Amino acid sequence: MSDEPKSCSVPTNAEPTATRSTVPMWIIVVTLLLLFLGLVFFDRHSGWFDAKVYAPYASAEQLDNAQPKSGAAAAMAAGKRNYEMFCGSCHGTDGAGKPGQAPPLAGSEIVIAKGFHRLAMIPLEGLAGPIKIKSQDWNFNMAPMGAALPDADLAAVLTYMRNSWGNKGGEVTADDIKTIRAEIKTPTAIAGDKLMAIPE
Ligand code: HEC
Repeated sequence: MSDEPKSCSVPTNAEPTATRSTVPMWIIVVTLLLLFLGLVFFDRHSGWFDAKVYAPYASAEQLDNAQPKSGAAAAMAAGKRNYEMFCGSCHGTDGAGKPGQAPPLAGSEIVIAKGFHRLAMIPLEGLAGPIKIKSQDWNFNMAPMGAALPDADLAAVLTYMRNSWGNKGGEVTADDIKTIRAEIKTPTAIAGDKLMAIPE
């Protein structure tokens, strides 16, 4: 025992131990810098998770500014949206109608008539039975697809229909729809001949 050198007292089969040292300062600094740059990038490009925001708009405010505020352009934009949601599936987004499904609105004598009284009755009351559109006979039924729409929304749909796909007509206002809606006592699908007897 006594002649064993002191320096060899560590057993060779011992668990290896790692030397512990502190994380270098530069790694912490670089990590924080990257985090900060990430936040700046997110701030500049995201719009803070606002659902209304997507490229190319950087903020909800920019998007709002890009929308038409009032007047004919706003009515047309709202009208297009609602038309495509509530009417386009049958009448087509191009207003050309669909054979065996729904008649065309582009060039339809009801849509481009001077007045829009007849036109407004259809989405408010529904339409039943034979009707002639652009010298073609149709004999289906349409439910009052626009009856649940607020006055302004239905007005915008009709304004859009009267001014799209080559149609040229005036603007329909929310007040117009309010007046026509008030005339309807019990909504029943109008027959085509009865509709054509109503003044334009
Ligand atoms: C589920 C299918 C369907 C939807 C949705 C629909 N329509 Fe119709 N629409 C018809 C059918 C079918 C006719 C023809 C009815 C007939 O033969 O009497 C018609 C006829 C018309 C007509 C008269 C004919 C013409 O071509 O000018 C107008 C105007 C009209 N629809 C407007 C609308 C508007 C506005 C909406 C949305 C608010 C709408 N429709 C949604 C099926 C639909």
